[in-house]
Amino acid sequence: APKKREGFSSRKVFIFAAIGSAVGLGNIWRFPYVAYDNGGGAFMIPYLVALLTAGLPFLFFDYVIGHRARASSPLAFRRLNRKTEFIGWWHMGINFIIAVYYAAILAWAARYVIYSFTHEWGDDPATFLMTDFLQVSDPAAGVTFDFVPGILIPIMIIWVLLAVVMSLGVQKGVGLANIFFIPLLVVMFIGLVAYSLTLNGAWTGLDALFTPDWSALTRPEVWVAAYGQIFFSLSIGFGIMITYASYLKKKTDLTGTGAVVGFANSGFELLAGIGVFAALGFMATAAGIGVSEVATSGIGLAFIAFPTIISQAPGGTLIGVLFFSSLLFAGFTSIISIVEVIVAGIEDKFNLGRVRSTLLVVLPIAIISTLLMATTSGLFVLDILDNFVNQFGILAAGLVSIFVVAYLVRALPTLRDHINARSSWKMGKLWMILLAGVTPLILGYSLVNTFITLMNEPYEGYPAEMLNIFGWGMVVVLLVAAVIISLLPWPKTSRASLTPPA
Ligand code: PHE
Ligand code: NA
Repeated sequence: APKKREGFSSRKVFIFAAIGSAVGLGNIWRFPYVAYDNGGGAFMIPYLVALLTAGLPFLFFDYVIGHRARASSPLAFRRLNRKTEFIGWWHMGINFIIAVYYAAILAWAARYVIYSFTHEWGDDPATFLMTDFLQVSDPAAGVTFDFVPGILIPIMIIWVLLAVVMSLGVQKGVGLANIFFIPLLVVMFIGLVAYSLTLNGAWTGLDALFTPDWSALTRPEVWVAAYGQIFFSLSIGFGIMITYASYLKKKTDLTGTGAVVGFANSGFELLAGIGVFAALGFMATAAGIGVSEVATSGIGLAFIAFPTIISQAPGGTLIGVLFFSSLLFAGFTSIISIVEVIVAGIEDKFNLGRVRSTLLVVLPIAIISTLLMATTSGLFVLDILDNFVNQFGILAAGLVSIFVVAYLVRALPTLRDHINARSSWKMGKLWMILLAGVTPLILGYSLVNTFITLMNEPYEGYPAEMLNIFGWGMVVVLLVAAVIISLLPWPKTSRASLTPPA
């Protein structure tokens, strides 16, 4: 008989876990620059519009699919309509890819917590990162298996810790880890932001971030950036919120809970914007240049700009420890949610216990992640996987799932009724219009745009062979594999029942 399913012990634990998933690298190293680059203070308007017209509606869509079926993504879609099962397997593939490379960034952040004490990077953090730390090889040489010990050791530790958390289960592992890390993250991050505001030049940075450029509102790409940020930042559309919501108690206010998570995530983005630009303002002032010359995002911000700031600012070590620990904790609670999607899916399909499912999932991912990321070719494999899975995996899966559910199996009214039977904030026609009308238009427009750009010029000028394997090839394999797997029968003993357990 199917094994009994676990869940979160309370709505509070769910909220911590959902915030833990949502608050990640996207908040800390992506949002500040996206806002700065797309109108500064004026960006708040498209950003809020995107949150209200697509972010929250899609978040509720994820919640209701998981909560109604009380199942992992593949089984949840199977229970909605057998024809939609492939979407769940697609989600599994997307999370597999993200897990492989996300662990590497956590490994780097862990190293840089330690380097913050020694200022290991000397006076040239860029050269240190590429040559000494990552030992990046020439992309033209393809994938190498030259291991870099400085990454190998921390990435293995990350995977062992993840295996422990996951095998402890939904409540004692995932739930408690988030109850522990999220308050810690909030305290450390507020400390970092407060301290950054005391640095010389902080206000120049804030001025650069918040001065509104109202003309940005007339540019379509600014709106696309806002929707893109909201989708990425809320972790919606690829199975994570479906899985977490499946662990909520039967009688839970879904929309009220979702609104708390959504606004908490945005609050953290705003906080990160203030902290990051205060620090960049210091860096620019110290160098006697404009903020525009130092403003960046992603790896360049975290592993080049911040080391520079850490070396130059009074109390730099404290800034470093707070900043890189924040990255590490925010990222760790996100990767927990990524791996949970896969562990839950395998548990459902094969009717496995928690520990077995964890081993079956974490062991292969950890090995692939270590082989691909802890070598001298790790950086560009990461860069390609990240770009393609975000652009085509996540956006396309979001678009297809809405389209299939709204138009092919016409399930939106059923989902709306499920939400409204237990939520304080009722969803009506407007929710369905936003979901079935506005969201697909925006996702479709972004997809076509990215596709054209990537066809016209190879991403970052990487060799075609690398892009064909880790970019286009990966994207196609994910979709094809999902469709094939969805056609395979379920073991008789599994939780394949089309109705959720009573
Ligand atoms: N939503 C997270 C962020 O904003 C990122 C994330 C990506 C989380 C993928 C889970 C899965 O940083
Ligand atoms: Na986020």
